Amino acid sequence: MSREPVNLTGLQQAFPYPRSAPGATTDLGRLIRDEIARSGPLSFADFMAQCLYHPELGYYARPEVPVVSKKGDFITSVTVGPVFGKLLAHRLHKFWLANGSPESFTVLEPGAHDGTLCLDILAAIKALNPKFDEAIHYLVYEPLPVRRQLLQAKLGGKASVIATPGEAKAEVGALVANEILDALPVPLYLRSGGQWHEALVTSHESSLDWDTRPATPSLPENLAEGYVAEGPPDLSSFLKPLAGVFKNALFIWIDYGLDEETLYHPARTAGTLRCYSKHQSNAHPLDNPGEQDLTADVNFSAVEECACSLGFQTHPAMNQSRYLTYCGKDWLLSGPTPQEIGQFQTLIHPSQFGSRFYALEMTKGDVDPATVFDQGDQCH
Ligand SMILES: C[S@@+](CC[C@H](N)C(=O)[O-])C[C@H]1O[C@@H](n2cnc3c(N)ncnc32)[C@H](O)[C@@H]1O
Repeated sequence: MSREPVNLTGLQQAFPYPRSAPGATTDLGRLIRDEIARSGPLSFADFMAQCLYHPELGYYARPEVPVVSKKGDFITSVTVGPVFGKLLAHRLHKFWLANGSPESFTVLEPGAHDGTLCLDILAAIKALNPKFDEAIHYLVYEPLPVRRQLLQAKLGGKASVIATPGEAKAEVGALVANEILDALPVPLYLRSGGQWHEALVTSHESSLDWDTRPATPSLPENLAEGYVAEGPPDLSSFLKPLAGVFKNALFIWIDYGLDEETLYHPARTAGTLRCYSKHQSNAHPLDNPGEQDLTADVNFSAVEECACSLGFQTHPAMNQSRYLTYCGKDWLLSGPTPQEIGQFQTLIHPSQFGSRFYALEMTKGDVDPATVFDQGDQCH
């Protein structure tokens, strides 16, 4: 049976950047081409996983390159300064107090990267309440061996570094995660011939190039020819082991993202996948494997749905501006320094981190969420 050829123009329009010369690639690019020659095209999600997390050549596995920094490829709220950690420490403190000030309270941070947020939160907790400080067991979870070594050296025993969430069990605690959901590998889809196709990565004339296979993702069917969209990552495989650590907990996810309706709006024809290098996002996702960041907006509706299926109660997501202002109510009245106020302004300013980033909280077990969320704060 012959199939209509798939029109790849949508993918070309979604990523209209000049390509590297044929044959010009990275060591990881050569490995990926060899793998494709042996086993056939890779799904985009598998390609992205290798680009970011190959144990030696992946983007996050090259510790000599400070990718998350002002001198690197992109900055996060953590890079702005210690105020971000301080505000999260206030939020954790409020939750701890509301739940009977337990003698042992575990904080788990996946994607702790270089450990800065962990140290900022711990320092703030120490200054806030010695009893809370005594109760804290801080765990950072990092799957890449090379990053674990670095984290161990940097944290110097102040937190435990774990390779899998299965190593931890806690009666009560919290998970804190900043910009990790956007770094999970996503599948990529293209609308052609009135149906969805999954984007694959193949090798063509010494370059990596697009290929496709028919797919039935749970994406709207009414989108235009050439529409490109990424699907959610494998959230269940990521969230389930994290949920399994705690009997009772507050989970805080902070990231850039949208709800499903906005993410798959008919006008948003090119998806949100992008590459970062030196604070610019104008490179082709198939070029320079392992040497540029690949990221996509978080589908917060999918995260909430997955969390509900795992027994969490989710609370309305709110933009970072509102969330941090709420977390910092007491701190703002306690006389922060002008330098701290400057950091706070960067974190909440709509053109910086305030309006593109959202905080999503969810709770598990028998806990008081200790929230005062306003109605109408949902992300969109
Ligand atoms: C974008 S960075 C996080 C930035 C950091 N949290 C900050 O705010 O500056 C993503 C980090 O998540 C780590 N990571 C990737 N997959 C992970 C997973 N499944 N579990 C935990 N950490 C993961 C990566 O190695 C990398 O260090």
